[in-house]
Amino acid sequence: MTGPDESVTFGLTVDGVAHEVTARWSESLLTVLRDRLGVRGPKTGCAHGRCGACAVRADLGDGAHVLCSCLVPAATAAGATVETVASIGSPDGELSDVQEAFLAEGAVQCGICTAGFVTAATELLEQNTDPSRAEIEAALYGNLCRCTGYGRIVAAVETAARTRREATR
Ligand code: FES
Ligand code: FES
Repeated sequence: MTGPDESVTFGLTVDGVAHEVTARWSESLLTVLRDRLGVRGPKTGCAHGRCGACAVRADLGDGAHVLCSCLVPAATAAGATVETVASIGSPDGELSDVQEAFLAEGAVQCGICTAGFVTAATELLEQNTDPSRAEIEAALYGNLCRCTGYGRIVAAVETAARTRREATR
């Protein structure tokens, strides 16, 4: 029987790069990303699925969606495709419309929550480029911010949505 401290070696793709890692069964995907692969976009906040700082977009075999990487057991990520906030801008460092809007609207202070918010907001705008305020708040419900009071963050998502709509006119 496999115990939590037993190690497993598996492959996964992170931000387009294939990796093979060895991790304990009890480790989280967040720990694999940050501590074993040096992928620092997802942040460690609560480590218990309550703050969204660790959010990534991942396909664990059931389609890609945003999830808390701190809640995903490492071994569950075998064969996964993971996109962190690093996949959201362009490879040459150009910011996405959502990232630009967060800066323009002053939605970033200490920054520990920002990757999670940008990841969740980007996912929302992929599905709906004209979200209502209630839909934005619902999409960001799993993300906590101690600094901004949320108003600037919601404004940033509204700005990014408007930019995206205007770009496709
Ligand atoms: S660190 Fe994962 S939800 Fe808080
Ligand atoms: S900017 Fe500090 S927690 Fe959100």
